Amino acid sequence: MASAVKSEPMRVLVTGASGLIGKAIEHVVFKEGGKQEGEEWFFISSKDGDLTDVEQTRAVFEKYHPTHVIHLAAKVGGLFIHLKENLQFLRDNIKINDNVLHTAHETGVTKVVSCLSSCIFPDKTTYPIDETMIHDGQPHESNYGYSYAKRMIDIQNRAYFQQHKRCYTSVIPTNVFGPHDDFSAENGHVLSAVIGKTYKAKQDGTHVKVCGTGNPRRQFTYSLDLGRILVWVLREYDDVEPLITSIGPEKEVSITEAVEMIAKALDFKGEIVYDTTMSDGQMRKTASIDKLRRYLPNFTFTPLDEAIKLTCDWLVANYDIARK
Ligand SMILES: NC(=O)c1ccc[n+]([C@@H]2O[C@H](COP(=O)([O-])OP(=O)(O)OC[C@H]3O[C@@H](n4cnc5c(N)ncnc54)[C@H](OP(=O)(O)O)[C@@H]3O)[C@@H](O)[C@H]2O)c1
Repeated sequence: MASAVKSEPMRVLVTGASGLIGKAIEHVVFKEGGKQEGEEWFFISSKDGDLTDVEQTRAVFEKYHPTHVIHLAAKVGGLFIHLKENLQFLRDNIKINDNVLHTAHETGVTKVVSCLSSCIFPDKTTYPIDETMIHDGQPHESNYGYSYAKRMIDIQNRAYFQQHKRCYTSVIPTNVFGPHDDFSAENGHVLSAVIGKTYKAKQDGTHVKVCGTGNPRRQFTYSLDLGRILVWVLREYDDVEPLITSIGPEKEVSITEAVEMIAKALDFKGEIVYDTTMSDGQMRKTASIDKLRRYLPNFTFTPLDEAIKLTCDWLVANYDIARK
C-alpha cells in the first residue's frame, strides 16, 4: 500500500499523550533515543484542546503543523460507565476520531497511527483472533458504543487510502500496563488495579481482594514495549491494515499467576482473596501476533515478572502523583 514520504524530518503530534501509552511513547522518544535528529515531537492532552470539537482540533493542528500523528486520545472507562453511557462513548469517540483523521487529511499529514483495542473484537469468535477478524461479528454488548466507534477508525483509514492514497493505519494493543497507569480499584484495568490494592493492603496490613476466580487468561503487554513498537510502526509500517501489537499468545497467563508476580514484586505476605461472586469477564481473548512477528522477528518483550516489578517500583516511587 502507500509509502510514507520520509525526506523531511518528522513533526509528530501525539494526541491523548497524558495517559499510560502516551507517557510510554514520551519515554521511548526522549529517554531511549527514539527521537531522530531534526525531528520534533509534541505531546498533547485534553488541556491543549477538546478533540470532540472540530474548531479546537483545527487549532491544535494549526499550532503544531504535524507531518505525522500518533492518535491515542479517546473517551475510555470501566465496565460500569460503559454500560451506563454507551451512547456518549459512541458519539464522543466518533467525533474525536473523525476530527483528528479529517483534519490530518485536510492539513496534509503524511501518516496517522491510531489505537484500536482488543475489546472491540467480535464477542463470539474463534481463537486465536487476528487482524482480519475485527468486523466479523458484534462486539460485546457492554461496550458496543466504544467498540463500534473504534472499528470505524479502520473503516475510515481504508476510505482515506481508497479515495486519497493516504497511509493512515491502526494498531491493536491488548491489556496494556506500566508506569503512569490508573492504579485505582474503580477505574484501573485488572493488573494495575491489583497493583494499587496490594500496595495499599501492605501499608494498611489488610488482605487483597481480587475480583473473580483468577482463572481468566490475558496477554499483558508492558507499555514501554508497546511504546517502542508504536515508534517503529510510525516509521516503518506503511500499510493501512491494522496490526496487533501485543505480547505473544505463548506468554498468556492467568490472573492468578499475574497476582502472584505482583505480591512478589511488592513483597506482600498477606492474604489474597478471590471474590468468586464477581464476574470473570471473558475467560480468554487470545490474539495472534503472527503478523507482528513477520515484521519484527527479533523484537524482545520484557518478561512479565520483570515488567510487573518495574511497574510496582514506579508506583512506590511515584505514589503521590499516581492515579489511584
Ligand atoms: N490501556 C490499555 O490497556 C489500552 C488497550 C488497548 C487500546 N488502548 C487505547 O490506547 C489509547 C490510549 O490509551 P491509554 O490507556 O493511554 O489512555 P488513557 O490513559 O485513558 O488516556 C486517554 C487520553 O485521551 C485524552 N482525551 C480524552 N478525551 C479527550 C478529548 N475530548 N480531547 C482531547 N483529548 C482527550 C486524555 O486527556 P486528559 O488526560 O487531559 O483527560 C488522555 O490523554 C486509547 O485510544 C485506548 O482506547 C488502551
